Amino acid sequence: MTNPTSSTGTLAFPPGFLWGAATAAYQVEGAAHEGGRTDSIWDTFAKVPGAVLDAHDGEVACDQYHRMAADVALMADLNLATYRFSTSWSRVRPDGGAVNPTGVDYYSRLVDELLGHGIKPWLTLYHWDLPQALEDAGGWTNRDTAYRFAEYAIGMHEALGDRVDVWTTMNEPWCSAFLGYTAGVHAPGRQTPEGGLAAAHHLLLGHGLAVQAIRERAPEANLGITLNFDVPDPLDPTDPGDVEAARLIDGQFNRIFLEPILLGAYPADVLADVAPFGLLDHVRDGDLEIISAKIDTLGVNYYHGQAVSCRPAPQAPGGEAPVTRPTSSPFPAAAGAFSHSRGLPVTAMGWEVQPEGLTRLLVRLQEDYTGPAGVALYITENGAAYDDVPGADGFVQDDERLEYFDLHLRAVHDAVAAGVDVRGYFAWSLLDNYEWAWGYHQRFGIVRVDFDTQVRTPKASALWYAAVAKTNTVPARD
Ligand code: FCB
Repeated sequence: MTNPTSSTGTLAFPPGFLWGAATAAYQVEGAAHEGGRTDSIWDTFAKVPGAVLDAHDGEVACDQYHRMAADVALMADLNLATYRFSTSWSRVRPDGGAVNPTGVDYYSRLVDELLGHGIKPWLTLYHWDLPQALEDAGGWTNRDTAYRFAEYAIGMHEALGDRVDVWTTMNEPWCSAFLGYTAGVHAPGRQTPEGGLAAAHHLLLGHGLAVQAIRERAPEANLGITLNFDVPDPLDPTDPGDVEAARLIDGQFNRIFLEPILLGAYPADVLADVAPFGLLDHVRDGDLEIISAKIDTLGVNYYHGQAVSCRPAPQAPGGEAPVTRPTSSPFPAAAGAFSHSRGLPVTAMGWEVQPEGLTRLLVRLQEDYTGPAGVALYITENGAAYDDVPGADGFVQDDERLEYFDLHLRAVHDAVAAGVDVRGYFAWSLLDNYEWAWGYHQRFGIVRVDFDTQVRTPKASALWYAAVAKTNTVPARD
């Protein structure tokens, strides 16, 4: 499948469309043991033999903790109207305990620096870095973690709520729950279907508790969550087995989070699929009302879709880091579903480039979920890793990444033209950074980072994106 509808001409976006770039605390900050910060589950996981390529960790990362002012100036140079960053729980509440003023002060200074440059802070409270001490007490499989998360959210709002008006609770709870507790691909590296499902419910509960608590403090705040989405298509749409395989993936990837949040109930088919693994044992009276507390914004992270079949693929598509520690499927109950390659161009991650999947995803979200609920959509992550080749001056002519952004922005514009209420777009990522189990082996930045010198060099895609942000227009393709 290619991009059938997009034009190649100049495309103007609606007035006020918000242009930004995203990062996450563990991927860029470094200073992992400075200013009172203690270990998160990623500090621990990076040390597990064979869990991360070359045992890379976030000890230094992009050193944004020390280079924050220069990075914000760079954002301003690139005409970014907003910066999506996450706060590190173990920096502001070491070991998940009392508030650490030094940690809070870092984010307070970051927010002031952004506002001083006219850049809107877009704050995410949780991008996968649970304090290790809370993992030692059961992590997200322990219901109490949801209440600790709400306490952390309130503390952050107390400190920054006078200057930050967009609050995202979680980034991609699917990854936290199922890559972390079922597949073992991400921290904390556990591998049971039961664990992933318990974590999913408690992440959702933490989200709802935080939304309620911040709403009470600031009724006018813009509250939301970011989910990552798949667009699973049956390999053969006329084959009932392939249709069923696509349903399984859609249920356990997309709807298991979407429906509790936006419809107030877990999907019945998903509950039936995962029945042996105890999800309902964790659901108490009143939980779904908390989880479905009204939100204002749904963040959409989209990288690619997939073709799904009930038959194994001759050669399964890539995507996971080639680590030596054994991992499992992230899906608690999708043993009969197999991902197939469609022969589309792939990024360095092995992910197929499928821009039209983003248009279909946005139209579906608007029609079935966010439109009826009066919730706005923002693309909070989209981007691509490629094997960049810098010139002697560090400049990267990253034509493939630029093309990826161009095609996906055209796909977003198609959705806008179809009536979808999508109000902004964040490139993933501002900087090359720590790509989880891949360590520093995948580069997603629009800005190159030389990890030996920490020198930042905007790539061709950054210069192109800066012009898009400035003019609110995607230029015609050559
Ligand atoms: C998303 C994560 C982000 C980054 C991109 C490539 O799943 O939210 O941190 O790793 O993938």
